Amino acid sequence: MIKKETIQTIIETARIEEVVGEFVSLKRRGVNYIGLCPFHNEKTPSFTVSPAKGIYKCFGCGASGNAVGFVMAHEHYSYPEALKYIAKKYGIEVKEEEITPEDQEKMDNRESMFALNNFISKYFQDNLFNSEEGKSIALSYLKERSFLESTIKKFQLGYALNGWDIYSNFAIKNGYNKDVLVKTGLSIDKESRLIDRFKGRVIFPIHNLTGKIIGFGGRILSSEKSTAKYLNSPESDIYNKSKSLYGIYFARNSILKKNNCFLVEGYTDVISLHQAGIENVVASSGTSLTIEQIKLIRRFTPNITILYDGDPAGIKASFRGIDLILTQGMNVKVVLFPEGEDPDSFARTHSSTEIVNFLKESASDFITFKARLLLDETKGDPAAKAELIKEIVRSIAFIPDPIVRSVYIKECSAVMDMAEQTLMNGLNKILRDKFRKHQNSTVEYSEEDIVVKKNHNTQVNNPFDIASHEDQIIRLILLYGKEIITLEDIIIDENDQEIKEKKEITVADFILENIQKDEIIFTNKVYKKILNEYAEEINKGNLPGEEFFVNHPDKFISDTVINLIASPYELSDNWKKHQIYVLNEQDNLYKSVITTILSLRSKVISRNLKEITDKLKDLESDAEIFVLQQQFYELKKIAAEIDRELKRTFNY
Ligand code: CTP
Ligand code: MN
Repeated sequence: MIKKETIQTIIETARIEEVVGEFVSLKRRGVNYIGLCPFHNEKTPSFTVSPAKGIYKCFGCGASGNAVGFVMAHEHYSYPEALKYIAKKYGIEVKEEEITPEDQEKMDNRESMFALNNFISKYFQDNLFNSEEGKSIALSYLKERSFLESTIKKFQLGYALNGWDIYSNFAIKNGYNKDVLVKTGLSIDKESRLIDRFKGRVIFPIHNLTGKIIGFGGRILSSEKSTAKYLNSPESDIYNKSKSLYGIYFARNSILKKNNCFLVEGYTDVISLHQAGIENVVASSGTSLTIEQIKLIRRFTPNITILYDGDPAGIKASFRGIDLILTQGMNVKVVLFPEGEDPDSFARTHSSTEIVNFLKESASDFITFKARLLLDETKGDPAAKAELIKEIVRSIAFIPDPIVRSVYIKECSAVMDMAEQTLMNGLNKILRDKFRKHQNSTVEYSEEDIVVKKNHNTQVNNPFDIASHEDQIIRLILLYGKEIITLEDIIIDENDQEIKEKKEITVADFILENIQKDEIIFTNKVYKKILNEYAEEINKGNLPGEEFFVNHPDKFISDTVINLIASPYELSDNWKKHQIYVLNEQDNLYKSVITTILSLRSKVISRNLKEITDKLKDLESDAEIFVLQQQFYELKKIAAEIDRELKRTFNY
């Protein structure tokens, strides 16, 4: 138990922006900081940190809390773990009350797993440097591989002695219990006898973001093929393979500084590159890359460079990883190492400058990479070449940003010697299909709803009239902001399967998130102010109702709001009338909100289209015209889709 006074000191000392800043790259925005929310998937930042209030709040997913709460949520720490983490960061001495045997028993399961891993890791290191067996076969092996002693110590490499239950017994003798040994995967329970998982292997501890050991990898010392070269800890309460990256703890600062992350395959690749001075490197440890791992990197940088050794089968298998990275809106480059070399062997035989230069010079974007790799195979086979082009365009379609997409289309056109417009048509077809799929799955309208919508919105559909939609949105927020609606999110898992995920969100959060996502800026200045104030209140942990604005000191705001909610209002009135008849009023609110957002989005697109047309008149550079034309083309398609959707469903 941590003493009360210590807890007080920790809470008083912790600065939210510093604590959060360890995990999220934050940018100053006025008095606050913003960044990409680590708790949900987003491409534009809605995660806000307020130093003044000592809290964080995500306007996207609603996550919020103070510094301790953040560490708990982010690292899946218990309360005492989070407190100790912060104490360590600020050099605060943690005073604990005497631990009674009962307390000991109650000690958090995870905490004891970390403690055991730490203890055993120290033992492995001791074996490596101090035991005869370790020195003579393991340390010599590592040195033969050109690992310096300082590197070995930094990565806490160790050695597991060759025996049946050597470290299991050692841990038991030192008071660690059997359960924890089995839970961490260090020991295997065989007929009530504990067996060491790792025997006669060099040990690579695997750390989480904060440097705690979550698992181990063990390598055999010989090159014989009778047993697996690497043996790894199994998944456990503290080790989730799809969420971990080997080396992330040692790489995080450098990734931030370099604004790029090198991704390699193996433990030794990470270590050798580090030794050569390249520290922004992590390994997926032989498994195929997952969305969670990509998101972990994205907290620190939007740029990934994948380093491949020259094994074509492996490279082809990894194309899906590239698409996953593109889906996250990240930039991906690829470096192919010479045949028979991996980053580790290359680093051993070249100087630091040579490595840096090689990485710089041979990094190519994914199109050039795919094309170069596969173009040879398609020589003289038009059908195969067409398939390759389609494959590349499919990858381009994963990029969320239309401007980036059109730049890649242009490059693909050059590399593959294929007309740009043809590629663009192909791309747009894929995008339309995706969009349709997405729309159909996110918005499910019912008969009732169509009836509601038929009764109003009969006014002429003026494509540039955004104001009326702004009204509707402010009204929805003021009247129903606190209501909870249930959304169905479609997420793509690592097997490319679509999973429907239900998520509850307040109407206010949902609307704010959408407005931010679409980067919609309100034209009505008072509305803009209301929205800002609303967001600020949420930031303070309040959910303001209409009364907040009705009694607002700014007369403009209070007048506007009073007017807005006092005047007859089709949508809300209908909704209110309607709820008398339908059982599930929440369902209807959901649809009203979605419709309003869709309509606004459609209007904003119309406005953007007009802006593009205006701009096109004055442009002379081909490149700029090209980019704008592509934007125009895509916006038009999306606008048509939205309008079609609204018309079809609502007789809008
Ligand atoms: N790997 C594994 N189990 C295996 C083989 C590989 O878990 N049987 C993982 C390890 O994380 C390894 C990575 O895949 O680091 C890459 O494998 P490989 O390239 O074969 O190993 P290297 O890292 O090159 O190891 P070394 O240089 O020691 O041979
Ligand atoms: Mn290797």
